[in-house]
Amino acid sequence: MKGKRPGMLRDIPGELSRKYYDLLLRNETGGTFWRAVMDDSAKVPVLESQDGIYVTDVDGNVYIETLGAFATSCLGYSPKQLIKVAMEQAERLMHVSDWPNIPRAELAQRLLEIAPGFLKHGQVQFELGGGPTVDLALELMHYASPPPRRDIITFFGGYHGRTVASVNLAANAYNREGFPGVNFNVIRVPYAYCYRCAFERTYPSCDMFCVTWIERLFESAEYGVYDPNTGTSLVAGLVVEPVQTHSGMIVPPAEFYQGLRRICDRYGLIFLSDAIPMSIGRSGKWFTCEHFGVTPDMITICKSISGGIWPLSALIARRDIAEAWANRPDKHMGTFHGNPVGCRAALEVIAEIERRNLLAHVTEVGNYFLDGLKALQAEHEVLADAAGLGLALGVEFVRDKRTKQPAPELAARVASEALRRGVILLRVGYFGNRITFMPPYIITKEEIDLILEVLDQSIKAAKELA
Ligand SMILES: Cc1ncc(COP(=O)(O)O)c(C=O)c1O
Repeated sequence: MKGKRPGMLRDIPGELSRKYYDLLLRNETGGTFWRAVMDDSAKVPVLESQDGIYVTDVDGNVYIETLGAFATSCLGYSPKQLIKVAMEQAERLMHVSDWPNIPRAELAQRLLEIAPGFLKHGQVQFELGGGPTVDLALELMHYASPPPRRDIITFFGGYHGRTVASVNLAANAYNREGFPGVNFNVIRVPYAYCYRCAFERTYPSCDMFCVTWIERLFESAEYGVYDPNTGTSLVAGLVVEPVQTHSGMIVPPAEFYQGLRRICDRYGLIFLSDAIPMSIGRSGKWFTCEHFGVTPDMITICKSISGGIWPLSALIARRDIAEAWANRPDKHMGTFHGNPVGCRAALEVIAEIERRNLLAHVTEVGNYFLDGLKALQAEHEVLADAAGLGLALGVEFVRDKRTKQPAPELAARVASEALRRGVILLRVGYFGNRITFMPPYIITKEEIDLILEVLDQSIKAAKELA
């Protein structure tokens, strides 16, 4: 399949895709993710096999999947070496239900070695997915914070998972609807989404007013988070993504993260960087916060960590914070925690990134991809705010650049046109008008050229349909 150029595909979904799609429609609930991906005229293809950056559907259509299985398949789809290592581990020791084992011990050590700054001296807790790991972090935050600190500051456009606690942090009203809520307040504030600044200012002349605005919450007890007269804070911590992924790769200026660190230090807040999709090399560094020169108090890690072969995630926490669990054995038992196959795979992912110098590669091809998106942006009046860090990239569809009015219908048509040309794109964003790219780290410049070419053709075709 490798090197195959996806061509114009005629019949999507094909006969077999339609058969399985109908089965899924009938038997899975209406809440499944895949129902939201495409409009009805271009249903999602039912996948059959994968290789490199390509996936093939059950009808034999080949696609480039630009999402890297949601930023997970960092070494490509079904990478042979990773599978071999995982299979060898499975034959030796496959599953031991949260029991000590060699890969688990080595991985905890390895994660701390690559962790930024003082987190190298921190501690690790393993989990099985992003949402549950954010829950863990919230729980630790509350353990480690003296009462009355219960509340959490989060950001508009933030996404932290769909468990009851993690979904409660998110801004998205649709995602929160129907959940019972939790017993702490969440204070949501604007993120540094500079293209659509909540304060209608322009970077850098704004002087990071979004940070100043958060800091002002601590100036009067009337703002509900802090009493400057007694120094009493109701806030335990702050939860923020280093790049807002679900909102379409919103990349903040470094000063944003630096300002948040300053606020946390000044008012004793625990700083959680939710880097579920943005860790283990996605940005071109092991951890995205390294770009900003900031070490948070906790980092959540998932997605790329085990290359997609086994669900695995981890929380790294500052040692003095993690010690709040020191006398709490069995607090976090999990049947599948610390699984030897997952941990061995994660060790192999880290080793392979080093062996193949993939951090440098991600930086190089990420910059190349961003330059390509910027060139398309210059050419198309409807394309704006091409942004990215490493292989986490996004671009926005607008009616025109002057009004910046979001164009979600156009973005949806572009995604459908791209699918017909063999490129799977994901449409997300505050207004559903951004397309994001999170391909495997092994992607080449030639493959990026192909994606850009299809994007260009799809924009032209979608505009003609308008
Ligand atoms: C920043 C962030 N946090 C948490 C999650 C939730 O991860 P999961 O889907 O594994 O629960 C995601 C998922 O994309 C994410 O992007």
